[in-house]
Formats: sequence, C-alpha cells, structure tokens
Amino acid sequence: MPVALLPACAGSWTALLAVAALAGGCELGERKLPHTAAPAAQVARGQQLLAQYQCGSCHAIPEVPIARGTVGPSLQAFGRRSYIAGQVPNRPDTLTRWIMAPQSLVPGTVMPAMGVSPDDARDMAAYLLALE
Ligand code: HEC
Repeated sequence: MPVALLPACAGSWTALLAVAALAGGCELGERKLPHTAAPAAQVARGQQLLAQYQCGSCHAIPEVPIARGTVGPSLQAFGRRSYIAGQVPNRPDTLTRWIMAPQSLVPGTVMPAMGVSPDDARDMAAYLLALE
C-alpha cells in the first residue's frame, strides 16, 4: 500500500519540506509557517553556508553537524525569535544585515563581522528564519 506510506507532511510548505527532509523527518510539516517564505533552494544553501563560514565555532545550530560552539547563543528555533541580540526585530532584511555587519545594528556587540557577501547572508538568514 504505497499510498498509505506517504508521510503526513506531504503538501506542506516546500522550504520546510527541504529542511524536514534533511532532518530525515516530517515533524516540521505540521507546524505554523515561519515569518519568512524563502525559496527552498535558499534555505538549503544557507544551511551549507553556515558550516562553510564556521558560524558553528561560536553557535550551536541544529542540523549543522559541526556547529556546537558556546561562545554565542544557540540558534535553535531562531525563526521563532522576536529579536536579534535582544534588540533588533528579527526579519529577513535585519537578519541579513546582522550576519554581514552585526556592529552596524548593535554597536559594541562581540559578534564579529565575517566578510559575508549579501547573497550568502540572505541565504543564511533564510535558513535561520525557517528554524522553528
Ligand atoms: C567569534 C564568535 C562568533 C562567530 C564566529 C559568529 N557569531 Fe553570531 N554571535 C556571537 C555572539 C557572542 C552573539 C551574541 C551577540 C549579542 O547578543 O550582542 C552572536 C549573535 C548571533 C545572532 C543573534 C542571536 C540571538 O540570540 O539573538 C545570530 C543570528 C548570529 N550570531 C548568527 C551568526 C552567523 C550566521 C555566523 C556566521 C556567519 C555567526 N553568527 C558567527 C558570536 C559569534
């Protein structure tokens, strides 16, 4: 009965499906949409970039295997977070800017600017905002 084996997440939002597929599960399919609706390709690329830029040397990020750092806060469920660094409204545009130049938003923050390009920052923001 192949039809009966279709998981409950069939028909859910495609970007979340991509994330859920990477996680090997469907649990995200039942949840509310995050406050961004980025294309799945951006979300998937963002996940790879988080590993490539080694954000995980300071942050724990679910589904990014090498991201287990504890210098910065965990980025688990970041899509549900209202504020970046407790101060800046968490939206695609502000999060992209934070990833490129955190000190332009929160002067004095210890999060370093890491030379991230606008496209790369946009995709990493898309991934982080899809984390529920
Ligand atoms: C050298 C350590 C370090 C690196 C590397 C680093 N961060 Fe951070 N990050 C921090 C610290 C510390 C904070 C907390 C800043 C604050 O609250 O002012 C932070 C905060 C954040 C926040 C907001 C978290 C929150 O709870 O509001 C995000 C999102 C974030 N970083 C993403 C990234 C991304 C994406 C990268 C890779 C491009 C990265 N960080 C690389 C140290 C780092």
